Amino acid sequence: MRYLVTGGAGFIGSHLCQFLLDKGGEVDAIDNLQTGSLDNIAHLLNRKGFRFFKEDVKNAMQMESVFLEADSIFHLAAPVGVKFILHHPVTTILDSVKATECVLNLAVKYSKPVLLASTSEVYGKHLDLLDPDGNGRLKEDDYRVEGTTRNHRWAYANVKSLTEFLAFAYYREFGLKVIITRFFNTAGPRQKSDYGMVIPNFVQAALKGNNLEIYGTGQQKRSFIHIQDTLSALWALSNNTNAYGQAFNIGSPEEISIRELAEMVIQLTQSSSGITSLTYEEAYGTGFEEMNRRTADISRLKSLTGFDLNYSLEDILRDVIQFEQTRLIG
Ligand SMILES: NC(=O)c1ccc[n+]([C@@H]2O[C@H](COP(=O)([O-])OP(=O)(O)OC[C@H]3O[C@@H](n4cnc5c(N)ncnc54)[C@H](O)[C@@H]3O)[C@@H](O)[C@H]2O)c1
Repeated sequence: MRYLVTGGAGFIGSHLCQFLLDKGGEVDAIDNLQTGSLDNIAHLLNRKGFRFFKEDVKNAMQMESVFLEADSIFHLAAPVGVKFILHHPVTTILDSVKATECVLNLAVKYSKPVLLASTSEVYGKHLDLLDPDGNGRLKEDDYRVEGTTRNHRWAYANVKSLTEFLAFAYYREFGLKVIITRFFNTAGPRQKSDYGMVIPNFVQAALKGNNLEIYGTGQQKRSFIHIQDTLSALWALSNNTNAYGQAFNIGSPEEISIRELAEMVIQLTQSSSGITSLTYEEAYGTGFEEMNRRTADISRLKSLTGFDLNYSLEDILRDVIQFEQTRLIG
């Protein structure tokens, strides 16, 4: 099998390339290095069966040649991270849609199956009145609640929703074999802190003895899944033809408050760091809106594929701490 991974030099993409090579596949990775980095794939560049193209996914001519050779496509390339999205509002909207359109067009033209990376952001704000179970876990077909279009924070959620609509439309109109995966905070080694990702930010601060910065009260809750569990889920779905035309949550059903997460990082790193609070305005500027909960219901993924989580939050933190410690020394 030859796989095409867009966003292959990113955090999830670089791990996926390695995973697919380890499974005996050949892998073409495309990335424009907008938020990704060659460091992420340096260890793969000399591996047999791996090719890297520094290219934009929107460049249909270049994409066409790699599409021709691919048996299966993982489309992960997209603007990512709250800070990147707030600082690049136009790129966030246009790039996501145009890149996805390009991938879906070529996939139809050459009859190739596609797995599309979406996000738990599409659910928008958690509202208790839409959560009859009270456990905060979001199901794939739940209603979505999003804020005003004046607030760019919601553009990412809407643009990712639009790419989902587009994928479902290609499925219905052209019979495209497409699977939509909604990631809920995947974390692990190599994730960058630059664009506002909480775990690498906390771990780097704790290792340097700096205070960990919490935005808002810190009572907002999130769930985290280890990159290796995400890869297992992607593999299980991409090998299951019954997944075509459906969306799947990929995440953990266990939630933790951001303050508890900060305390856990300080304890595991044995750091002398403290915790400071910033308002959302101080962190992101005026008009930012936060979600109070963001937890995955993964029963659809489990019942179709038999998937189960193998890594705990502590495993994630220990792996990130080890990675960041090595980076600090090196
Ligand atoms: N990591 C998470 O927790 C998480 C959560 C929700 C959704 N996602 C989704 O997963 C995917 C991968 O995210 P990630 O965390 O690995 O982020 P990342 O920033 O590390 O990876 C995205 C990669 O795409 C590349 N890219 C962006 N636009 C491109 C374009 N037009 N052409 C070529 N390359 C381009 C970037 O350079 C980067 O390497 C994204 O679609 C993202 O929306 C991730």
